[in-house]
Amino acid sequence: MGLMDKHAIIEKNATLLLVGSLLVVTVGGIVEIAPLFYLDNTIEKVEGMRPYSPLELAGRNIYVREGCYLCHSQMIRPFRDEVERYGHYSLAAESMYDHPFQWGSKRTGPDLARVGDRYSNEWHVQHLVEPRSVVPESIMPSYAFLKDTAIDVKDFSTHLIANRRVGVPYSDDMIARAGDDLTAQANPNADTSDLEGRYPKAKLGDFDGNPQQVTEMDALVAYLQMLGTLVDFKTYDEAAGYR
Ligand code: HEC
Repeated sequence: MGLMDKHAIIEKNATLLLVGSLLVVTVGGIVEIAPLFYLDNTIEKVEGMRPYSPLELAGRNIYVREGCYLCHSQMIRPFRDEVERYGHYSLAAESMYDHPFQWGSKRTGPDLARVGDRYSNEWHVQHLVEPRSVVPESIMPSYAFLKDTAIDVKDFSTHLIANRRVGVPYSDDMIARAGDDLTAQANPNADTSDLEGRYPKAKLGDFDGNPQQVTEMDALVAYLQMLGTLVDFKTYDEAAGYR
């Protein structure tokens, strides 16, 4: 009996074919899926990525609270039109410290993954206070109240602790200094050398134009100005062999 004849036995018996198919799918499934259980992490490490500074984290919390993700994505897809408009396509590592991630699923407004450094702090404040004063046709809501709301600095370390519980590598030192770091980042007269060591490339200064207190506006603008600026894509593409 040739091989084809033997195969005909399976083909003519539906039950045998079903059992055989299940067997093949099971073996294939185990070979593909089992190794994933032994990986610690599927995200490729990328130079420059670091946990958010306390002020940036406070800004991110406001971004989530206000539902900015309902109108804005933070995920540039690897298509030419997107890359030409927004910049280098997003890497998985760029969202690795986001809990939950802010990719979004709708773009009523533009993608914000690389909005950092694109406008001045003054522009952001003006835009958040009254979007139509800088973009007349804008339908974005006004968030002027952020300027009047102070941040609870005293207990801010609890937010770092919560993030550490889900895997963000905040050190004991970072947690202990969270409140000081938060105020220092928004204070143009503070000594920020320690802060910059802990959070390289953190944007410094009085973001909202009111040096008297750290407001939610300071935090949100510090967060927006950091978005997409941590990875140096010139060195990243060279290292990956793209350039
Ligand atoms: C109802 C939808 C909507 C919501 C909610 C919304 N936006 Fe927008 N946003 C827009 C639209 C539309 C634009 C484009 C027009 C403009 O610049 O105002 C925009 C533009 C922007 C820009 C300028 C981006 C660029 O590249 O020019 C930033 C920054 C921004 N939004 C931040 C935010 C933040 C932060 C929040 C949450 C506090 C938010 N938006 C909430 C609709 C929205």
